[in-house]
Amino acid sequence: MERGRVLLIDDEPILLVTVSDALTKAGYTVQAVKSGQEGIAAFQEGSFDTVLLDMVMPDISGMDVLREIKNLSPQTIIVMVTAYGTIERAVEAMRLGAHDFIAKPFSLDELILKLQNITSFQCIKDENIYLREQLEKKYHFGNLIGKSDRMQEIYELIRTVSATDSTVLIQGESGTGKELVANAIHFNSRRKDAPFIKVSCAALSETILESELFGHEKGAFTGAVQRKMGRFELADHGTLFLDEIGDISPTVQVKLLRVLQEREFERVGGTKTIQIDVRIISATKYNIREIMTERLREDLYYRLNTIVFELPLLRERKEDIPLLAKHFLNEFRRRGSKNIAGFTSATLDLLEQYEWPGNIRELKNIVERAVAFCRTNKIQVADLPREIREICLKKKLIQHQIETLDDVLKAVEKEYLQKVLRVTQGRKGKAAELLGISRKTLWEKMRGHQLSNKIPC
Ligand SMILES: Nc1ncnc2c1ncn2[C@@H]1O[C@H](COP(=O)(O)OP(=O)(O)OP(=O)(O)O)[C@@H](O)[C@H]1O
Ligand SMILES: [Mg+2]
Repeated sequence: MERGRVLLIDDEPILLVTVSDALTKAGYTVQAVKSGQEGIAAFQEGSFDTVLLDMVMPDISGMDVLREIKNLSPQTIIVMVTAYGTIERAVEAMRLGAHDFIAKPFSLDELILKLQNITSFQCIKDENIYLREQLEKKYHFGNLIGKSDRMQEIYELIRTVSATDSTVLIQGESGTGKELVANAIHFNSRRKDAPFIKVSCAALSETILESELFGHEKGAFTGAVQRKMGRFELADHGTLFLDEIGDISPTVQVKLLRVLQEREFERVGGTKTIQIDVRIISATKYNIREIMTERLREDLYYRLNTIVFELPLLRERKEDIPLLAKHFLNEFRRRGSKNIAGFTSATLDLLEQYEWPGNIRELKNIVERAVAFCRTNKIQVADLPREIREICLKKKLIQHQIETLDDVLKAVEKEYLQKVLRVTQGRKGKAAELLGISRKTLWEKMRGHQLSNKIPC
């Protein structure tokens, strides 16, 4: 039975021979070298599960070899072989990443037992990595993240759709991940090696959009100084992503309908019919009813909506908020040099309370900002923008049926003003004098409290 590959680095010839023999008999594949330099070279060339490394060698020290191997392959297990008097340095070596040490003189049984323990340790570690990866895979689809049922359904639909050429319509409010879903469909489909081309329909005027989509011939219009290929042609054999489909003009809609029906078109100002093989994915922030009845021709709508994705709002899948927040923290932490371990539980609580009108994009921005503001090793509530903190505080107070201090003070002020105006029979000059404020301030306060000029009763 193959137990694993061991690299033995030691300058004592007798030890090299006896240990090699014993380990080979025990089922290991062993390569033995007699110096640090040779050890590094052998490591670079071969592939080893474990390295047995002598601490003291004449050419370079075991510590230096350890550093070098850990640099090359942080996962490799290294056991330091120490002599009497070097145990303290072995502890130091373990801080540098060595897995364990064995002190000379050691019996061969002792060494084999140690290696067996290491193998079972390694198996558990590998299994853990595998299980974690499986779990993460479940919570991911391409760059999409989310463990909620709604997201799991989206992953399933992406998988199904990717295997087909069907036209797809993605509906979702701003920042819900429409572009990411379109990407995931393309890169999981048979078209993945062909282009994924995007057109933002809302950003372009009618004539520019037409020429962007279908291209134009030289001289088709003023400024058309040379022939230009459109995005449909560029996306041939790939996917065309029409973003903000709800904002295209009726004229372009008619042209688009023809491409969808016949898979062919002419360039603007051209007569040659061009045939293409493109999967179309469109996206809209408008709701499906609005798209169907107000924004698109009915026949075009029915061509585009073979498969519809309705992306959930972030607040509809609150259980994904911590997962997404941690994912973005990882991303921004990697870019910066800050050592931030995570979020305090109060911060995560607050992130879950917030309504996220800008959905995932807003969450991503908030995490980026929080990373910049963070001064400790955890993101605190204070690192979030004031508006979010205030909205959440208000929500909490309302939940507990408590008015905010601000609301209470305002109500008291209004009542007080009404009382003074009653006493002064609505004379504002007198009222301002009694209150010790200017007429202007009084007038502003009355307006703020929507108090009329009539004497309050
Ligand atoms: N499920 C998700 N997992 C991880 N990141 C996401 C997810 N959904 C969206 N994002 C991130 O949020 C941001 C917005 O996503 P995307 O551009 O796909 O949204 P959109 O719906 O197209 O928004 P818009 O309508 O504003 O164009 C991007 O930075 C994207 O990477
Ligand atoms: Mg988008």
